[in-house]
Amino acid sequence: MKLDQMDILLKQALKPGRYVHSVNTMKEAVRLAGHYGEDVDSAAIAGLLHDCAKNLNDEQTLEYCSNYGINLSRLEQKQVFLMHGAVGAVIAREKYGVENEAVLNAIKYHTTGYGSMSMLDKIILLADFIEPGRKHSEVDNARKLAYIDINRALISAFDSTIRYVMNRKGLIHPSTIEARNNILMLISYGHTDLEFKG
Ligand SMILES: [Fe+2]
Ligand SMILES: [Fe+2]
Repeated sequence: MKLDQMDILLKQALKPGRYVHSVNTMKEAVRLAGHYGEDVDSAAIAGLLHDCAKNLNDEQTLEYCSNYGINLSRLEQKQVFLMHGAVGAVIAREKYGVENEAVLNAIKYHTTGYGSMSMLDKIILLADFIEPGRKHSEVDNARKLAYIDINRALISAFDSTIRYVMNRKGLIHPSTIEARNNILMLISYGHTDLEFKG
């Protein structure tokens, strides 16, 4: 399916505000991909479709999870909205015809990050965080760093997400901690925890 067809379908599926956010994320992801020498077409598709499951309620999300063998951890059972990444990857494949695994992976993990993020994974998570429609506090620092050092920008994004969740006495997903630790290891010691183990 071509990008403009995906765009038409997505516009029908999402609330107007969420659709605008998706288009903004796509544009930011394309800019980041160009800047970091990543595939621009993949960034466009992943950016556009990253929230394609966001229109589903918890019940519908759980139904997708059980139909497609997506197992939820105890934390995820308490925070079903986090699964819009994993379910989004399913819908991107089934409804939008995306076959590129790197694109599907970026959609899957945009909500939490994870230990060994690819450049495309990083671009989508960051674009989602900094797109111009985002007005949340602390976004400025990540925005400033985004085109200077994507890893430092991501640390800033993770820090502010974790702070936000902590302030609300919320549960922090272990994949977010893992992602942050690995990127910090990379910045501080020149290798990630995973590379070190390998
Ligand atoms: Fe999302
Ligand atoms: Fe989003």
